[in-house]
Amino acid sequence: MNKEELDKLSCGSAEAFPKQLTRDDFFKCPVWSADAPQFVNDLNKASDEYIEISKKNSKENIDKRNKKFGDKGDRNEIYHSTSLIGDLSFRQLQEYIGATAHNLLIEMGFDLTNYKVFTTEMWVQEFAKAGGGHHTLHTHWNGHMSGFYFLKASEKTSRPLFEDPRAGNLMNLLPQKDVTKMTYASHQFNYDIKPGKLIFFPSYLPHQYLVDMGYEPFRFIHWNCQAIPKGVLSVVHKK
Ligand SMILES: [Fe+2]
Repeated sequence: MNKEELDKLSCGSAEAFPKQLTRDDFFKCPVWSADAPQFVNDLNKASDEYIEISKKNSKENIDKRNKKFGDKGDRNEIYHSTSLIGDLSFRQLQEYIGATAHNLLIEMGFDLTNYKVFTTEMWVQEFAKAGGGHHTLHTHWNGHMSGFYFLKASEKTSRPLFEDPRAGNLMNLLPQKDVTKMTYASHQFNYDIKPGKLIFFPSYLPHQYLVDMGYEPFRFIHWNCQAIPKGVLSVVHKK
């Protein structure tokens, strides 16, 4: 803005005020990612039977739906496993997640001296072969660190989309100048994902999964971690 425009806008009052301001960033929201393809084969193999069981369990409902409304195969289904916690095939990942979540919470500035971090939920899921698999926007309540490890994914599959956790900001957004750039006006973002991609994020961060078209299999492990006060743990232990 040139001087003439500034004078016009401010009726001349901006003349004496600083034109260059210092910008600070507060209330940042971290997301961490890494590539760890070395675990993909083993964890896919270990996941297969969980997904097969989920497919078997879902079959009756899918058949019922198709009979009632017309055959759409398994469209829209998501095959969720039961808990993977404690399964030896996933033990290494589980321990890595717990230790990493602990370190990341410390990196965020939290004092975990009196807390112990547990991986409280971990499961694998695969989207429908016929497409339509998705997750609506959600957060993971009662948790502190969440994450994904992708086992089957490509540019043809779904992907996670993260949303601004500041509800107040969402209520007052203005149109963005360039939606391809991450700016203060951005309210969502996503990552390019592929097998082996690992993502950690605070559990308060809302995320969703875009509708999968069914071109290729889409499978990933999802987890949630919780920091529990050691005082509570010792009470439970004494009991
Ligand atoms: Fe989630």
